[in-house]
Amino acid sequence: MEFFNHLTAAADLIRPAGNLVVITGAGVSAESGIDTYRGAGGLWDRHDVNEVATGTALRVNPRKVWEFLLLLREHVAEAEPNPAHHAIRALEEHVETVRVITQNIDGLHQTAGSDEVLEIHGNVREARHEGSGRIYPLERLDLGRLPPRCPVSDEPLRPNVLYFEEAYDPAIMGKAARWVREAKVILVVGTSGMVPTPYHLAHDGKQAGAAVIDVNPDPGVAREVFGAAGGIADVFLQGRAGEVLPQLLTLL
Ligand code: OAD
Repeated sequence: MEFFNHLTAAADLIRPAGNLVVITGAGVSAESGIDTYRGAGGLWDRHDVNEVATGTALRVNPRKVWEFLLLLREHVAEAEPNPAHHAIRALEEHVETVRVITQNIDGLHQTAGSDEVLEIHGNVREARHEGSGRIYPLERLDLGRLPPRCPVSDEPLRPNVLYFEEAYDPAIMGKAARWVREAKVILVVGTSGMVPTPYHLAHDGKQAGAAVIDVNPDPGVAREVFGAAGGIADVFLQGRAGEVLPQLLTLL
């Protein structure tokens, strides 16, 4: 099977699949105007990850972590789902079970109407009380003073986001692991693989018998992370998700 740019091969895999998992990263929201993390002009070019997105930063200077989160929340508030999010939602019309595992915190898959979405890195919409795990929608909190305080205990709250140095929630990852094991096809969209979770999930799905399709404008990602070297992807579709996924949909 031709590895690169084989839309027909991808459609042939998806059509009879019955159970599809879509794993998304920042690239799926790039065409909504939300910056990716890495690469020229990415968020980590302009913000020091050690100051705004690590467990240490949250302990040492929670205010700065909160300010960054609220900045992202403002960007997200201005953004709308793009053709990639809509195409992923529309896959539900062709495949019985479509589940989305996303690293993104922007909520755009839900806005587009996707039915089952697992946000493995949390979201920009909520705060969490570290001790009890209680979750609060941000609009219910006083954000005039950062960090916002827990309405029950008056203790500081943290963003409901997973930061570097922190462990994944075992319940969420358990669900993700089950989903990839049950999938017949795994469609990986717009992730660099620099955080290796999508690679591991795709790998586990592949071990359990799934075919893997990777969508990215950067062929290096396919070769080095999901492709020949990583031995994961069966098909690589090179291009922007907002263009490639609607094309793929027309072939189903
Ligand atoms: P990255 O910023 O590392 O990678 C974005 C990927 O999207 C790159 O491979 C781009 O080539 C690709 N891309 C860019 N535009 C695209 C488009 N229009 N269509 C499809 N792909 C496109 O983002 P992630 O891999 O998602 O975690 O990053 C993973 C995690 O690292 C994030 O969730 C975040 C970050 O640090 C935390 O903050 C914990």
